[in-house]
Amino acid sequence: MTLLVALLVALPFLASAAARADRNVSQFVPDNDYTPQKSGIPFPLQDESIQPWVHLGQPSKTAESGEAAAASSCTPLTASSPTAWWYEDVAHNGSSSFMSSEYRSDYSVFRNVVTDYGADNTNSTNAATAIQNAINGRHPSTLSLSGPSNGGPARGSGNYGTTGQPAVVYLPAGTYLMSSSIQLYVGTLLVGDPINPPTLVATSDFADDHIIYAKDPNYGGTVNFYIGIKNIIIDSTAVDPSTSLGLVDWTVSQATQLANVVFNMPDYSTGHVGVTAEYGYNSNVILNDLTFNGGAYGLQLSGQQWIFKNIKTSGTTTGISAGGFSVVCLSCSFEYGAVGIDATVVDGVVSVIDTSGLDLEYLVSGTSSGGAGYSIVLENVSYDGTTVAIDGSEVLSGDVTDTWVYGNVYSSGSSSASLATGSTESTPRSSSLLSDGKYFITEKPPTFQEYSVDQVLNIKSIADLPVYGDGSTDDTANINSILSQYAGCYVIYFPAGTYIVTDTITIPSGSRIYGDAYGTAISAIGSNYYNPDAPGTMIQIGNAGDVGVAQIVDMIFTVADVLQGCKLVELNIAGSSPGDVGIWNSHFRIGGAAGSLVETNCGGTPDECKAAWGLLHLTNTSSAYIENMWGWTADHDLDGGNTQTISTGRGALIEATSGTWLIGTAMEHHTLYQYNYNNAENVVSAFQQSETPYWQGPGNDLAPAPWTDNLIASDPTFDNCESGDDICYMAFFERISGSSNLFLYNGMVWVFFNDDGDCTGNYCQGNAVDITDSSSIYLYGQQVDSVQNIFLEDGTAIATESANSGGWGGVVAAYLYNS
Ligand SMILES: *[C@@H]1O[C@H](CO)[C@@H](O)[C@H](O)[C@H]1NC(C)=O
Ligand SMILES: *[C@@H]1O[C@H](CO)[C@@H](O)[C@H](O)[C@H]1NC(C)=O
Ligand SMILES: *[C@@H]1O[C@H](CO)[C@@H](O)[C@H](O)[C@H]1NC(C)=O
Ligand SMILES: *[C@@H]1O[C@H](CO)[C@@H](O)[C@H](O)[C@H]1NC(C)=O
Ligand SMILES: *[C@@H]1O[C@H](CO)[C@@H](O)[C@H](O)[C@H]1NC(C)=O
Repeated sequence: MTLLVALLVALPFLASAAARADRNVSQFVPDNDYTPQKSGIPFPLQDESIQPWVHLGQPSKTAESGEAAAASSCTPLTASSPTAWWYEDVAHNGSSSFMSSEYRSDYSVFRNVVTDYGADNTNSTNAATAIQNAINGRHPSTLSLSGPSNGGPARGSGNYGTTGQPAVVYLPAGTYLMSSSIQLYVGTLLVGDPINPPTLVATSDFADDHIIYAKDPNYGGTVNFYIGIKNIIIDSTAVDPSTSLGLVDWTVSQATQLANVVFNMPDYSTGHVGVTAEYGYNSNVILNDLTFNGGAYGLQLSGQQWIFKNIKTSGTTTGISAGGFSVVCLSCSFEYGAVGIDATVVDGVVSVIDTSGLDLEYLVSGTSSGGAGYSIVLENVSYDGTTVAIDGSEVLSGDVTDTWVYGNVYSSGSSSASLATGSTESTPRSSSLLSDGKYFITEKPPTFQEYSVDQVLNIKSIADLPVYGDGSTDDTANINSILSQYAGCYVIYFPAGTYIVTDTITIPSGSRIYGDAYGTAISAIGSNYYNPDAPGTMIQIGNAGDVGVAQIVDMIFTVADVLQGCKLVELNIAGSSPGDVGIWNSHFRIGGAAGSLVETNCGGTPDECKAAWGLLHLTNTSSAYIENMWGWTADHDLDGGNTQTISTGRGALIEATSGTWLIGTAMEHHTLYQYNYNNAENVVSAFQQSETPYWQGPGNDLAPAPWTDNLIASDPTFDNCESGDDICYMAFFERISGSSNLFLYNGMVWVFFNDDGDCTGNYCQGNAVDITDSSSIYLYGQQVDSVQNIFLEDGTAIATESANSGGWGGVVAAYLYNS
């Protein structure tokens, strides 16, 4: 929109800042009595005969068996500018590995809404019914059946657990008229062609209050995992601007993806909101690469925490209003509206990084703290006007070239905070993390759309190297043969299914790997993963010293057995440019799901279930970009109600030095630590959410138990703890040692239980972050719930929850350690 048009449209609005969609955004913030839901979705229609721990299938041939074709030389991958996305045309022969055999072979994970379900993509007749049929899996010829085309009960009916019914609903290019809403379920990815993104257009007589309901209505928001929407445009411009309408409701939690979506609404429409989260409490991580044109709000949300990356709003009255405890806006831009970020609804901390505003009343509108709980951090923000208003009064105008802090500020060596009402801190960023002066980010997750379908290899398509992905056959040898021969020449596509591996899968330099989101899992089993003192690696990405490309998109990493010697992912390779090496929308799951003995055999004590050595190791030769990752040791059973008392040793071990980007990650329920920065350098982390194991604390194993006999040099020993101080012996959220130039924005430590029950004292846990022997560590926006000490410096408490009361417990706006 031109500036002139913008001003003409903006003026009437500026006169009535109160004319906004009237929704109750505060109602889903939990109080201190909140306890997480401990059971998942029943999965009675499960094939329980698939038990690789009892019987491991073998492939009919392998290269080693001498029957494979000689290694062919292949042409290195070069971009070919196709006009259609390979993903539309590639063979989609994935399956749901653990679905009952009665239904499995008829169940199609992938559904093309046009060619399979007859949706009209020509802008002439309503497409909503056909798209819904595709989501349901209900083929037009079988509409009379009560269930999907496989004849089984409907998706969302509580028969397939959380993981048993993945569905990729594909929208080819075109315009789809929507006269009513569509409803997603757990396990659904709605994905469009990124080359020519499809548009869903609401008709002027649109019937419902949202166009897309993402949350499975049968279950609470906090157990709505594995849901995605990407590469589409949603248009409400034909609907009366004052009609109350949400384009997407996103009341969902971790391991979800709302990415690369454009929301077109009438400019300053009083009734339209791009994204809401109004159907209950939720625990989101990242929403990324979204553009909002028009609307009362771009995002009007309420939940636990949020990171927004690469969000643009224009002609939107309020860009982002996200209730919760912790909010990050990274590389956002807001123009021609009233407020960029409404921080009044955040009881915790908002960090605004590499962000700009143009022609607004306020870029950030906050409220006075009175405590620590309304902290604001701005860094590298450009705006020519009122940059921050508190309770309607300007407290900051113009650009922020370094870091501006409103809230409690600590520096090393002192346990007394200064309460800043707008201090300037110096945060000299490492040049290796930057692109054009900002922290490097990817503009959208890789789609590999620059390659044509004949440059993509379906991992199940080499007849001499059969790969099964069936949850029971050992796919190790043939996956490795295929990757070593073809990885540099093809995008490697893994159709949905669980690929069982018994030894290291080596992902060589040059690899580009793409899965069916939430449906494709790599799962370890076997004796290579039994020794906790010499762990085997399940996925090794590159070798030490490699510099090249390795990109992994839309995969799940898990274990099929209790494997105390399994390190799931080790990353060694560095990119020659930022983003060449990375992992996007890929998640870890230890237990809590069908197809693993961990789900059914871990109802005892933590020492009986040392289910994995650790999740992610970024070694000292690596340099990687990681976006949208949930590293989860199960606290409950996603696929039923089995008790899950699981002790995974470690979350993320970060030893990289030459540039690491962690954008929207969460690590939950690991025994020794969630994040360990060991001799790490040059890392930016925007948003790290965590929880401590629910079983941990007084009354149960005290850390480092049950790993006491298997510690490595980088592990915390807990020798800072005094005997009897049992809440001290619990997993560190973050251990930082021997490190420098770490830029860590918005850390969250949520602790709810001791020994799976009520906490015994005033706090559930003693310590969150431990820093030793480091320099130039910048921690902005650290928050805890029920943790006594927020930071330890060489074992001494620097900041306590009680001295920083706010948010869900305690909030520190800035801690500058040896900077
Ligand atoms: C918002 O919801 C809360 C909790 O349900 C309720 O107490 C409050 O009255 C509501 N506010 C409005 C304005 O409806
Ligand atoms: C769809 O049809 C409507 C009216 O029938 C027209 O105004 C609109 O421009 C069309 N959109 C596209 C993308 O063709
Ligand atoms: C802030 O971002 C701009 C790009 O918008 C860049 O040119 C500038 O160098 C950055 N400044 C700092 C201090 O990072
Ligand atoms: C999967 O599709 C590929 C590509 O068409 C084909 O070669 C292969 O035989 C199929 N495999 C299975 C198990 O369906
Ligand atoms: C990197 O890590 C390896 C393996 O732990 C170690 O042998 C090596 O000394 C480390 N290199 C540096 C420079 O720290």
